[in-house]
Amino acid sequence: MKSIDRHVELSNGYRMPILGFGTYGIPKDTVESVISKALEVGYRHIETAPIYMNEKGIGSAIRKSGIPREDIFITSKIPPHIKSYEGAMRVIERSMKNLGVDYLDAVLINNPVPWGEEGNDYSEANIEVYHAMEAMYEKELVGALGLSNFTIEEMEPLLKGVKVSPHLHQIGVFIGHSLDAIRTYSGNNGMAVQAHSPLARGRIFKLEGLERLAEKEGLSVAQLAIRFPLELNAYPIVKTLHKDRMRENINVDEPLSGDTLKALKAYDEDIRDYRPPGAKSVL
Ligand SMILES: NC(=O)c1ccc[n+]([C@@H]2O[C@H](COP(=O)([O-])OP(=O)(O)OC[C@H]3O[C@@H](n4cnc5c(N)ncnc54)[C@H](OP(=O)(O)O)[C@@H]3O)[C@@H](O)[C@H]2O)c1
Repeated sequence: MKSIDRHVELSNGYRMPILGFGTYGIPKDTVESVISKALEVGYRHIETAPIYMNEKGIGSAIRKSGIPREDIFITSKIPPHIKSYEGAMRVIERSMKNLGVDYLDAVLINNPVPWGEEGNDYSEANIEVYHAMEAMYEKELVGALGLSNFTIEEMEPLLKGVKVSPHLHQIGVFIGHSLDAIRTYSGNNGMAVQAHSPLARGRIFKLEGLERLAEKEGLSVAQLAIRFPLELNAYPIVKTLHKDRMRENINVDEPLSGDTLKALKAYDEDIRDYRPPGAKSVL
């Protein structure tokens, strides 16, 4: 089966398409047409957030596509600065309204701390936010719960303080940034790992040596980079505005050779100081 048609079963049995389409930075006036193209190409997993300010256009594209709602997996996230029960409730309700849907497939805590507050302890507040997510989950308004960009130290208190264990953890996994310890810890605690920014927001193309490895595998550099997290059992979420790249980015069905994977893992030694914006706390 092609990767674009494959699903993973989360720890609660909920099914998630393994390839996600990201919408960070897609302006409101173009998002409807971009999502329409992504759905035509075959994406069935759309990832967004209220802070991307494009939920209405996403909802509109989904409705106009005629694809049944239950065939599309929609993930939204609680903004980093929202750290209260009431705030989280409000934001989930608003996301559903903006998207025009009566349930979300997944809701994640976008970041363990508000942007710029790395190092501060928001463990109690994150548990409060998560309780709001649990309330929505219990009412079956949300299919799966998750975290994003948490360190192990930030996950530990949360896991002790919640009733419904998180089903997902979305982190920046890309060549040079495998996050082995966080992936392992997440997996051991029942979370499927999603890889946001598999192209490191385009910076992957500046890495030396990838063209040669991609050619050896019969892939483009983008395909090699999107295949990399899949090899680590991390499910990539990639964004592009262009239909030809959407098509390119889903052709990632073949496993990489052991030698290529080893060569790609070696980049972890080279890139220790890379920081994509908005994911500082795990990098
Ligand atoms: N949880 C979090 O904190 C968090 C953080 C970051 C991202 N995310 C999610 O993950 C999604 C993906 O991450 P991202 O948008 O940051 O970065 P990304 O997907 O790694 O990279 C996107 C960039 O790569 C380019 N690109 C895409 N396909 C390409 C191809 N085949 N060839 C050449 N260039 C290509 C895009 O340009 P064009 O659009 O011009 O093609 C864009 O500049 C986001 O949209 C968002 O939904 C979540």
